[in-house]
Amino acid sequence: MDHASQTNTEGHVVALEDESTDGISRLSFLATGAAAGVGATLLGPLGKAATALADRGNGALSKGDAAILRFLAAAELIEADLWQQYNELGGIQDAQVPGGKASPPYVSALEVLDGDMSQYIHDNTHDEVSHFTFINAYLKSRGAEPVNLDRFRELPSSKATGAQQIGRLTNLTELTVDTSWWTKYRSSTKNPDLGDKFPRAVPGMAAGRFPAIPRSDSDLEPADHIQAIANTAGFHFGAVEQTGTSLYPALAQRVSDPEALRVLLSIGPTEAMHFQTWHDKAGNAPPLTDPVTGLVFPDLNAPPLGGEEFKTNLIMPKPTVFLRRSLPVASIVRPTNTQGAALATFNAIAAEELFRGQPKEFFSTLRELATAADAPNAGDRRRR
Ligand SMILES: [Fe+2]
Ligand SMILES: [Fe+2]
Repeated sequence: MDHASQTNTEGHVVALEDESTDGISRLSFLATGAAAGVGATLLGPLGKAATALADRGNGALSKGDAAILRFLAAAELIEADLWQQYNELGGIQDAQVPGGKASPPYVSALEVLDGDMSQYIHDNTHDEVSHFTFINAYLKSRGAEPVNLDRFRELPSSKATGAQQIGRLTNLTELTVDTSWWTKYRSSTKNPDLGDKFPRAVPGMAAGRFPAIPRSDSDLEPADHIQAIANTAGFHFGAVEQTGTSLYPALAQRVSDPEALRVLLSIGPTEAMHFQTWHDKAGNAPPLTDPVTGLVFPDLNAPPLGGEEFKTNLIMPKPTVFLRRSLPVASIVRPTNTQGAALATFNAIAAEELFRGQPKEFFSTLRELATAADAPNAGDRRRR
């Protein structure tokens, strides 16, 4: 430990860090022994009493913490917009997630992946709406500006029966999906944080632009075409949610306010629960060639694929190298590097062509939010 430490009244070693950039000392504490002293009163370097682990989140957020939460609000608005489109055509229609009427042929094709797909799509949509609604309300409650992307809701809706005709933030009709997340979570020797690259489960999805929802009722047949659209959705679901699974732990490392950190640590794992569900379902996408687009979904269980990198029932995060190759492998979320994490996330989503048709101002607005969230002073908790 290169920072000051002292022992508190309960015998826990307390690390005192004064890294203040805003005049407020930040204390973090390292507990030894069984339990951290919840609510233990610590004396900071300036003699001010601070209550660790019992921060009620009073007062305004630091600029950096607000920037991190604002980028997350934007990411959740985007997630909610795409999930809403999936739900209108492929999910359950109810008062919780209103707007659509469902497209029975699309629902049937999704059900090939799992009989409960409509429920899962509905619930994932509901969760994302709750995420942006909560984060924006939380930002306001802590004196920060919420995020509103309504001016960019200009992209067209699907013309297929079941979708409402409103402006959208995202475009699900010309997606270029990178399915390397499939092998990234199955590798026991590689980690994207260490610069490693991963083969794609469905290479064709990254080599063109494909619909993940029916664009109109003419996409509802032949059967292998609408199945290919449902398969594309199935792999896109995993791609979206593994991004969120990494984003929260990546950004949490630079949050300084304990309650704001609690927000990230409590929402982030729900993204992992979504991802785990979709990881399982994508493996049920039937191998086929789309007769309209030529997109090939290979048999992931048969040679030349199969094995540890492709087999469809290997859905747990394989233990792999973490931090340094000299350490033992661990089952972990990957990547979690914090440097540049927000901008890398935005660039990865943009590369999916999810924003195809959006004006330059949309991209510059999102890049500004990401850059602010990635700023080195964003609630920096790093130890010197
Ligand atoms: Fe979310
Ligand atoms: Fe999500």
